[in-house]
Amino acid sequence: MDTKLLFQDPAAFTTPLLAVFAVDSATGKDAPPAPTLLTTSATISKAAAQVLASGEFKAALGETAVIHAPAGFLAERLLLVGLGKAKSLSLDELRKGGGTALRAAKPRGLRALAIAFPELSPISGSSLHAHDASRVLIEGAALADIDYDIYKTDRKDLAVHSTTLLVPESLHLFGNDIAAGFTEGLVLAAGQNFTRSLVNEPGNVLTPTVLGERTAAMCAEVGLKCEVYSTEKLHELKMGAFWAVSQGSAEPPALIVMTYDPPVVEGQSAPPEGSPVIGLVGKGITFDTGGISIKPADGMEKMKYDMAGAGAMIGAMRAIAELKPAVKVISVICSAENMPDGKAFKPGDVVTAMSGKTIEIINTDAEGRLVLSDGLHYAKTLGCTHLINAATLTGAVAIALGKLNVGLFSNDDATTEKFLGGLALTGEKYWRLPCTDDYRDQIKSQIADIQNTGITRYGGSITAAMFLKEFVGDTPWIHLDIAALAWNDEAKPWLASGPSGIGVRSIVEWVRSYAR
Ligand code: BES
Ligand code: MN
Ligand code: ZN
Repeated sequence: MDTKLLFQDPAAFTTPLLAVFAVDSATGKDAPPAPTLLTTSATISKAAAQVLASGEFKAALGETAVIHAPAGFLAERLLLVGLGKAKSLSLDELRKGGGTALRAAKPRGLRALAIAFPELSPISGSSLHAHDASRVLIEGAALADIDYDIYKTDRKDLAVHSTTLLVPESLHLFGNDIAAGFTEGLVLAAGQNFTRSLVNEPGNVLTPTVLGERTAAMCAEVGLKCEVYSTEKLHELKMGAFWAVSQGSAEPPALIVMTYDPPVVEGQSAPPEGSPVIGLVGKGITFDTGGISIKPADGMEKMKYDMAGAGAMIGAMRAIAELKPAVKVISVICSAENMPDGKAFKPGDVVTAMSGKTIEIINTDAEGRLVLSDGLHYAKTLGCTHLINAATLTGAVAIALGKLNVGLFSNDDATTEKFLGGLALTGEKYWRLPCTDDYRDQIKSQIADIQNTGITRYGGSITAAMFLKEFVGDTPWIHLDIAALAWNDEAKPWLASGPSGIGVRSIVEWVRSYAR
C-alpha cells in the first residue's frame, strides 16, 4: 500500500472516499448518543449534519456511515467513522478508527482512501499527542489492509492501493511530530504484518527450515545480521532439551540468531561498557501435534500457529532494524516441529539442557518450555543482560485470563514496569501473573533436577513460567504467554480474522525504553 501524508484541507482533496472521525460526547448513562465530529471544518460539519441529526449514526467504535456526493467536496464520498465515547478516547481507539476507515473502503472496491486527521478541539480534556495520534492512525490502516486469503483460488484482491492522511490547517504547527509519528507507525505495522504473514502459513509450507530462510531474507532486506543453524549446532551447543523436541520430526530444527547493532555514535567507537544487551527469545514450533503425548484431533489444525512467539520476535526485529534505537538487541529463535515417531522423545525420558540441568519429560506436549529453556540460556551466553520471551506456551492461560490479556510473568518488578509503561501507546493488554518461588515444588522431579509439567493441572501457565525461570537465573526476564491472543477467530471492523501479530508493538516499545 502506498501511503502519503499531506498538509491540506480535507474538503479540497480529490478522493473516492474521505474518512472523518466522530466520538460520542454524551455524558451520563441514560443520555442519548451525541455524535460529535472531530473537525473544525464547516464544510464537513454541514455535509454530515443530516446524518448526525437522524440519530442513525451513534459514533460507536467501529461504526460507519457513508454520505455520497457531499456538497462542497472534491471527495466522491464522505465516510463517518465512530471512535466510541469521547471521555474514554484513547490511542487504541484511534488505531481501530484508522483500521475501520480502511476496511470500509475494501468491500466497496475502492482503491484509494483519504483520512482527515482528527482535530480534538471539539472535545475538551483529551491529552493525545499529535505524534502518537499520527502513528496509531496509519498503523491501524496498514494493519487493516491485510486479509488472509492467499490460499484461495477465487481470491478477490480488494487491497487498498493508496491511503493519504490529510492534516488540516489547525494542526500544521505539529507538522514535524505528525510526520515522525507517521513514519514510525508504518514501520511498526510492517513489522507486525510480517509476523502475521509468517503465523498465517500452514505447517507444510512453513517448516523450521523455511522459517529460517524467510527470516534470513527479511534480515538481508533491512540490514540485520542473521545466522541459521540446524541439528549439528544443537549438538555442538549441547542443547539437549531443544534437540529432544525436534528428534521425532523428519524436518530438521532451526536455531535462528538475529543481531541488531545500533549505529555508531559520532566520537564513540563502541557503546559504553555495561550498556544493556536485550535478548528476544521466541518459541517457533511450526506444528505441535503434542508428540507421543498426542493432542486430540479436534482443533489440532490450530497448532500451526505455535510459532507465533518466534513470529513476534522476528517482526519486532524487523521494526527495530528500521527504527534504529541506540541499544544492542539479539534475537534467538528456537524452531522445530513436534511430532510422534519411532525416533521421537518419550514421557519418562531424561534430557540435559544446555545449562546442564536435567529434565524429566512427563508430557511431550509441554515442548515449548523445552526449546525455550535452551534458547534463553543461549541468549545469556551471547551476552544478553535483559531477556524477554514470547510463546504460545499453554492452553491454561486462556482459562486464567480469557482471550483479552496476554499472561505476563517476570522475575523483576522494574523490568515489568518498563514493559507496562509502553502499553498506553501500543494498546495491547497484558496481565501479570505470579511466578514466585513458592510454586517451585510443582516442577520437582523424582529422578531429575526438574520435570517439564506441574505435578497437578492447577496453575498450568504458572508452572510453565516456573520452568522457564529455572534457566534465566538472575537476569531480568519477562515471559509472555500469548497462546490465547495469537489468533483472532473473529474479524473486527478494523482487523481481519486470523493471525494477530500480538506482541510486536509492545516488545519494540520495551526495547526502545533501553535506548541510550
Ligand atoms: N502449543 C501448546 C499451547 C497452546 C494451546 C497454544 C492452545 C495455543 C493454543 C503447548 O505446547 C501445549 O501443548 N501445552 C500444554 C501443556 C501441558 C501438556 C502441560 C497445554 O496447554 O495443554
Ligand atoms: Mn504442546
Ligand atoms: Zn506448543
